[in-house]
Parts: sequence; structure tokens; C-alpha cells
Amino acid sequence: MKELDPQNITGVVVDQMSLTPDRRLREIVDSLVKHIHNFVRDVRLTPEELSEGLRFLTDVGHTCTDKRQEFILLSEVLGIETLVYAMADRLGEEHGTPTSILGPFYMPDIPTLELGGSIVGERKPELAFYGQVTDARRQPIRNASVEVWQTDEEGLYDVQRPEYSESDLRGRFYTNEAGMYSLQSILPLGYSIPMDGPVGQLVKAQHRHGMRPAHVHYIVSAPGFKSVTTAIYLKDDPYLETDTVFGVTESLVGAVAEQDASSPILGLPALRFDFQLRSDDSNPRSS
Ligand code: BEZ
Ligand code: FE
Repeated sequence: MKELDPQNITGVVVDQMSLTPDRRLREIVDSLVKHIHNFVRDVRLTPEELSEGLRFLTDVGHTCTDKRQEFILLSEVLGIETLVYAMADRLGEEHGTPTSILGPFYMPDIPTLELGGSIVGERKPELAFYGQVTDARRQPIRNASVEVWQTDEEGLYDVQRPEYSESDLRGRFYTNEAGMYSLQSILPLGYSIPMDGPVGQLVKAQHRHGMRPAHVHYIVSAPGFKSVTTAIYLKDDPYLETDTVFGVTESLVGAVAEQDASSPILGLPALRFDFQLRSDDSNPRSS
């Protein structure tokens, strides 16, 4: 039996876990333990700070309900979700549109609308979103499903409204023979992440604003291709560079053109964004 000290404890823990039969589980937990032990040594964590951290994680757990996932929010405000997506996006040989945060307001049951249709209900459409869905070699993909959802003029998703009963500012469109999609909408507004829980407290303690820049969410999918969950962010939004959940990357920023002769919806300002899908069997480079 050896005397445990701040250096040898890590090896003792890793040794005890070394019989884990699942290789990937062993690799992940080994690395996690080594990194966390290094972190504890690095910041010289005190017993009081350990208790405080565990209290925080307990609060995060208690804040989760079937409608709210505070752990996902935590992984987002720490940039972990974006890091994982950014690595997964780079695994294949083929180029595809980058992934961006799904967020908690996705709803799978949404109306399918005619190409060029409006998602704004009784409101007056203000602008068009359109573009082409292609494969990695820029060949059009017909009949691709393009799911869209966004906030309203007050920065709220339909499901956040107390009077919510039916889908608003959401729709599914299928691309035509040329792989084109188009729809009519309004400008989405940026908004704050939920700030009334432990993750919000952390963000406030860090003097971060908690805002997300204005964006439109998309899920684009087609048989034979990997579907992409992403979002288009509006150029000139003041929070583009400081998105609290790190969803924005340069190639996902789109600009509204006041006049766009190529837009299939004439008479409205338009934002064109083309999506590229990787094929389902595109081989990961690293395996
Ligand atoms: C969203 O983009 O819908 C979202 C992402 C993270 C937290 C809250 C909302
Ligand atoms: Fe969003």
C-alpha cells in the first residue's frame, strides 16, 4: 500500500479503471480523469470550491424538466457543443455546410408548405429566404427537405408564448428539380438565452450579455445524404462576434439584399443561402 499524494492519485485511479472492457469508455473516462486531476492541481481547487461546484451541478440538474435542458445549455455556454460539432464536421473528406446549435425550440411537427410559401401567418411577409441544396460536388439535390424555424419580431419562438397553440414561423419545404428552396418570412430578432437558472447565473457572474444574434434555424435532409442542423445568422447583428453559445461561424453569416434579381420571390428583399450536404457514405478521414 502506498501513501497517496497529489501526484500519484491519478495513476491509482486510472489503474483501477483499467479493466473496463468497453475500449471507448475506457479511453474517454481515463482521459477525463487525467484532465480533471490536472485541472484540480492547476487551479489548486479547495474543498469549499469543490462543494460549490458540486452544488452548481446539482442546481443544473434540478433545473432540468421535460421542457428545459439546463445541462445542454451549460455545454453550449462553455463552447463544448460547438467544439464537438466542429470536429465532426471536419471528419469527412467531403465539404458540407457547417453544423450550428439546434437549440431547445425545435419542433418536429410542422406544416409542409408549397415552395415560395409564407411562414408568417396573418402578418405581411417582409423578406424572402431562398437558395440551392447541393451535394459536395455542387450538383443539385431535388426533393430535399428544408425545415425552417425562427423568432418573431419580439425575439420569441411560438412555443415561448403563453397563448401558444399552433405552429408559427415554422415550415418545411421541398426543393424543386434544380435543388432550389424559397419561402417568405419576416426578419427574426436576436434574443437572450434563459438567464433565470444556474447557467444564467454563471453567465452573469462572467459579465457576459447572454444574447444570441438574430438567426434562422434550418435542418436540411435528403435520402442518401447526412442531414445538417444549422442556422443562418444575419450580417450586421451586434452580437455576431459574441454569441453566448458560440453558434456563429463566418460561413453561416448571410446578408439580406434589398433587391435581388435572382430571387424567385420578386418584390421582397432576399437572403440567399445555399446548403451543401455530405453523402451518407462519405468516409471519415480518421478511421
Ligand atoms: C436557439 O438557438 O434556439 C437557442 C440556443 C441556445 C439556447 C437557447 C436558444
Ligand atoms: Fe434560436
